Amino acid sequence: MKNKIVAGNWKMNNTFSEAEDLLVAIAESIEDMRLETEIIICPPALYLEMATDIAQESNFYVGAQNVAYAEKGAYTGEISAAMLKSVDVDFCIVGHSERRNYFHETDEELAKKIDILLANQINPIFCCGESLTDRENGNFKQVIENQIKNTLFHLSVEQFENITIAYEPIWAIGTGLTATPQQAQEVHAFIRKLIEEKYGTEMAYNTYILYGGSCNAKNALDLFSCTDVDGGLIGGASLSAQDFVEIVNAAETCTKND
Ligand code: 13P
Repeated sequence: MKNKIVAGNWKMNNTFSEAEDLLVAIAESIEDMRLETEIIICPPALYLEMATDIAQESNFYVGAQNVAYAEKGAYTGEISAAMLKSVDVDFCIVGHSERRNYFHETDEELAKKIDILLANQINPIFCCGESLTDRENGNFKQVIENQIKNTLFHLSVEQFENITIAYEPIWAIGTGLTATPQQAQEVHAFIRKLIEEKYGTEMAYNTYILYGGSCNAKNALDLFSCTDVDGGLIGGASLSAQDFVEIVNAAETCTKND
């Protein structure tokens, strides 16, 4: 039995008090649940310390949404991996399509971010996924393969053990257009095969591959029931404690049925 991971990416949402209310509501909802599922909440950087404070008394992990590719110094506005670690952050999203598209992050920069996170004992959640054009052209697998190889495959076995992957087709993010379970399964199995070829069968099995893109309380069970879908990276639906906890419950159901 492999348990699931449900991660919430809040993106640029919530004021301080809204963030506090949501964190407390999630903590209260999961308080009495004997969870197999690992929960990771990724609020905006400003609220990370509050989140790790609340997490200390609860059973969720805290992740950042971004990190600087440099160690320290004159990088106005950036937040370093050491800073994240100093407020007990355990995970960090890297390579989200919004950062690739709006902030022009390249594979080369993303590889540096992965390295600096690992050097600071923070687990990267690496996002990959194709655009609608790539999907329609039929070259989506090549795009995903390039993203993964360019950014992750320089890692040693010991380093790669700390990587979580999120498959997030860009056409499904925030659009209400979810990948079908078959589409998700096809890509997840493909990613697992790539890992197997590079790092072996055991690593391929052990690596968590999450699905993200309009995953919600209604479709989570079908998606998480796919053999190679190890959970979800949730955007919009992670902004409601009730919806988020329903998604966690879907993950629990899948683990128990496994
Ligand atoms: P939505 O769940 O809002 O589609 O966002 C998915 C996502 O981008 C998570 O990182």
